[in-house]
Amino acid sequence: MRRPLIVGNWKMNKTASEAVAFIRDLCGRVSASPHADVVLAPPFTALESASRALGSSSWISLCAQDIHWEPHGAFTGEVSAPMLLDLGCRYVIVGHSERRILFGERDEHIQKKVRSALRHGLSPILCVGESLGDREAGQTETVVTAQLKGSLAELSMRDLATVTIAYEPVWAIGTGRTATTEQAASVHRSIRLFVEIGWNSETASAIRILYGGSVTPQNIKSLLVSDTIDGALVGGACLDPDSFATILRLAQIPRA
Ligand code: PGA
Repeated sequence: MRRPLIVGNWKMNKTASEAVAFIRDLCGRVSASPHADVVLAPPFTALESASRALGSSSWISLCAQDIHWEPHGAFTGEVSAPMLLDLGCRYVIVGHSERRILFGERDEHIQKKVRSALRHGLSPILCVGESLGDREAGQTETVVTAQLKGSLAELSMRDLATVTIAYEPVWAIGTGRTATTEQAASVHRSIRLFVEIGWNSETASAIRILYGGSVTPQNIKSLLVSDTIDGALVGGACLDPDSFATILRLAQIPRA
């Protein structure tokens, strides 16, 4: 049985001190639940203060929004897996569509990032998703499968078991236009099939696949109705503690 996972991606929002205030506020509104895992992804500059505010045994895990694939070296502006681990991160988002589209990240980079995260003991949250043009051209599955192939090729079963996949249609991110539960579930099923064919059915049924793209307190419940949708990667709606707490509460209701 897969435990739902809710990830809040702050993107380029909140200073280090705002992160502390947010975490205090959030923890006053909602508490740990045996029914869902919760992850917060502040910007690099707020990871340390967020880590301190959470403490070492928090029910909320810390996540970075990106990573460089080398452990250290002359890579101005980049941050590596050992640096993130040292701050208490357990997860890292890799291949977010904003990185792919705005910063030219390609699958070959993303594959190196996934591997580096795994090598150092961070759990990658790999983002995949089609553009509106891809969807309208009937290319959703082809595009998503190519991204998966390019990023996960030749991972061992053991490594893949630590990866979370986030299906995030580009046309749904920050637009207020959510995929329907059926649209998301259908892509999730094709992702599971890809894993089953490439690895095996146990891995396919164990891997967590999230949905991301305009998730709100209003639509989270209907998305989680699908038994193939294992949680959400939340952007805009995670910035406000009240709205994120509501999403967490709704996700923490045991699944049927
Ligand atoms: P959104 O962002 O919830 O604001 O659409 C989701 C994401 O980019 O992960």
